[in-house]
Amino acid sequence: MSNVYVLDHPLIQHKLTYIRDERTGTKEFRELVDEVAGLMAFEITRDLPLQEVTVKTPVAEATMKTIAGKKLGLVPILRAGLGMVDGILKLIPAAKVGHVGLYRDPETLTPIEYYVKLPSDVEERDFIVIDPMLATGGSASAAITSIKNRGAKNIKLMCLVAAPEGVKVIQDEHPDVDIFLAALDEKLNDHGYIVPGLGDAGDRLFGTK
Ligand code: URA
Repeated sequence: MSNVYVLDHPLIQHKLTYIRDERTGTKEFRELVDEVAGLMAFEITRDLPLQEVTVKTPVAEATMKTIAGKKLGLVPILRAGLGMVDGILKLIPAAKVGHVGLYRDPETLTPIEYYVKLPSDVEERDFIVIDPMLATGGSASAAITSIKNRGAKNIKLMCLVAAPEGVKVIQDEHPDVDIFLAALDEKLNDHGYIVPGLGDAGDRLFGTK
């Protein structure tokens, strides 16, 4: 069963409150999402393996640690996932970035994949799939299936806000995928929006409506 981690550091909670506020405009929304993504990345990468190296400080030679060259891949789900990529890349600049684009079939409501591009060495990388709003979980689950089908083995899911319904779908369909959230909200409303949520993340990030 996937573990669910709510990364409720005070800085994340503070920034998320302003992200949620309907009075927050596009520029500030984007900046805050970028900052929260960076703060979340700090926690999500807590298990990165380290290796020992020798350094000579101005005072003495010492054995210290550096990250052991683990290959990481970020996979934002288009389009709202793009808003969290730069904040993570500031901390992990060597990560490669793939993309998955999905739309919902208006009749069947199932997610249809229209774009996938992943790093060529999928099998050697650990992936972080990025979906700011885990609502029904349909898109995130389909994106995870898609990258698993292309050879990805180690996947984490990173979301700003989730509804319990979406978390359950990922836990049922991808029990091997740990879920990292800035907040776990109450529920979905009849229109598929997370309550209280923050509205449409893509529209708020890109200033469309
Ligand atoms: N997608 C969003 O952008 N917001 C929601 O509340 C649900 C899905």
